[in-house]
Amino acid sequence: MARINDNFLKLQAGYLFPEIARRVTAFTEANPDAAKNLIRCGIGDVTEPVPEATRKAMHDAIDELGNRDTFRGYGPEQGYEFLRDAIVENQFVGLGIEADEIFVSDGSKCDSGNILDIFGPGNKIAITDPVYPVYVDTNVMIGNTGAANEDGSFEGLVYMPCNAANEFVPAIPEEKVDLIYLCYPNNPTGTATTREQLQAWVDYALKNKAIILYDAAYESFIQEEDVPHSIFEIEGARECAIEFRSFSKIAGFTGVRCAFVVIPKTLMGQKAGGTPHSIHSLWSRRHSTKFNGASYPVQRGAAAIFTDEGKAEVAELIKHYMGNAKLLREACEEIGLTVFGGVNAPYVWVACPEGTDSWGMFDRMLNEANVVITPGAGFGAAGEGYFRISSFNSRANVEEVCKRVKQQLG
Ligand code: MLT
Repeated sequence: MARINDNFLKLQAGYLFPEIARRVTAFTEANPDAAKNLIRCGIGDVTEPVPEATRKAMHDAIDELGNRDTFRGYGPEQGYEFLRDAIVENQFVGLGIEADEIFVSDGSKCDSGNILDIFGPGNKIAITDPVYPVYVDTNVMIGNTGAANEDGSFEGLVYMPCNAANEFVPAIPEEKVDLIYLCYPNNPTGTATTREQLQAWVDYALKNKAIILYDAAYESFIQEEDVPHSIFEIEGARECAIEFRSFSKIAGFTGVRCAFVVIPKTLMGQKAGGTPHSIHSLWSRRHSTKFNGASYPVQRGAAAIFTDEGKAEVAELIKHYMGNAKLLREACEEIGLTVFGGVNAPYVWVACPEGTDSWGMFDRMLNEANVVITPGAGFGAAGEGYFRISSFNSRANVEEVCKRVKQQLG
């Protein structure tokens, strides 16, 4: 009989979002009438249409594929040059990033999981708590952890608690770690990091020869000046960081699928014997072996967000979602709840009212207010006592959610 990967058996119940979907389906089946009023602010899935500039570029690309003279087959695995150039010229100006350090893909979730392919066993891995569950689960799957503890944490990982006291940016660990997951603006807490805090992490990584896996999927939502958009704004990051970016939330791409990873050619890991080895070359080898490139029309659509029309449309989308975040923040604050995030990120992180835990809040909001939120505990033990509201929704739905939150919890 074929041997399975036993590491999968260590995983707790389902991945958070399917688990929420399961509970919502059960509610919908049991309460078909109430379900008609259900508003989903759980998973951060966009609701507003793909920009016209992008749609037009994708239509044109499809037409090219329908013509023998302009047809294209396999594209470059790393992504078309037109997209990698546009990314560098628009998102990494003055940061020393070159187009061949960009690897275009079909999503950040896949990238942040797949990256573990190129790291060996025995690395000490540090993750924030609460955290985007993909970082933890993919480490479990690949065998980088022991068994799960009662609170859902895993043996072998270094958890870095993020809470109100440290402004949801973890303290630098006292021990030496090798791989560090950071996500800013943060999912799930919706908070941002300062340049100084990020510099301290880069300094730590350089000193300890660690690599920071920096998830910047929400950087376009930053509203305040002086919040870093990229880790490569920080001195020394080219020697210690990989950055993940995504088109999902900025251009309605959660279903279209396009993202990219930035790996500087100056970034080194070490071989078993201790000699340095290029991370860029390993990822390039991995990417071209296991991936045939993102779809051509999709890459054309992604490049179109960097045209004047595309930029204007993306700016409107961001304004819309951040306007929602402001309304949600204010509604929660008005009734005396303690609220974090929602200023530089599309997530609002709310402390549960006294006496209710986070899954309790989930059930209460689902059953009584018919609103789906995400329980903080689903993001890790330190998320207990909080819930997350996603601002990815229509304005009308967000206004209705504000009303229901005030009625239910006010
Ligand atoms: C979330 O709700 O945390 C995100 O939608 C998850 C994701 O982007 O995969």
